[in-house]
Amino acid sequence: MQRNNILAPSILSANFNHLGEDINCVIQAGAQYLHIDVMDGMFVPSISFGMPVIRSIRKEHDCFFDVHLMVQNPERYIEEFAKCGADNITIHAESCTHLHSAIQQIKKHNIRAAVALNPATPLNVLDYILNDLDMVLLMTVNPGFGGQTYIPEMTEKIQTLRNRILSTGKEIDIQVDGGVNDSTIHTVLEAGANVLVAGSAVFKGNAEENVTHYLNILNQYQTY
Ligand code: DX5
Ligand code: ZN
Repeated sequence: MQRNNILAPSILSANFNHLGEDINCVIQAGAQYLHIDVMDGMFVPSISFGMPVIRSIRKEHDCFFDVHLMVQNPERYIEEFAKCGADNITIHAESCTHLHSAIQQIKKHNIRAAVALNPATPLNVLDYILNDLDMVLLMTVNPGFGGQTYIPEMTEKIQTLRNRILSTGKEIDIQVDGGVNDSTIHTVLEAGANVLVAGSAVFKGNAEENVTHYLNILNQYQTY
């Protein structure tokens, strides 16, 4: 089985004054996922947006909603985000006391389940849950803000995770989030990531052209 290379524009960098138009633009240009960053001001310093915003976007858009929960004890909100229209819910290992149980809670809704790791969190927290996951999100910056610089040490982490996943024989996606742009996209793809979040790299300038540009690069890489 082959994994697909996927572009996931993060709406955190969109213009909220015309969010719907920005979403239409990136989806029509071919982006497969819409990356939706929920921040609570506790797990990360910043506060972004929550259920009412996601619910109203869902009324107008039927694209894939990739919801990244940067909130403390995310298990409190899984049911509600699933009802808001999430197609994937990503929870942070660092924010969740009962991680195994929270993953099962996500899967109960018949949507995709993913776990995110901060840059300093070792891969071994995945030891007893990897087989239950559809995707692992490796943060390549410290979560909380768009427009930060890729942390170079994360390249080895992506490679190590890819090898570990290959040894399971399962198709588990590797998503990278933070600082993906022209200078880093080849590095993360070569290391084995296949779902690429891009916020500022997509929404700064002409979003349609940027999506086309990054999809062309994604298509040059065979997943393995
Ligand atoms: C950061 C968020 C990211 C953010 C990425 O904590 O999880 O999804 O939007 O932004 P860029 O691509 O600009 O680094
Ligand atoms: Zn994110």
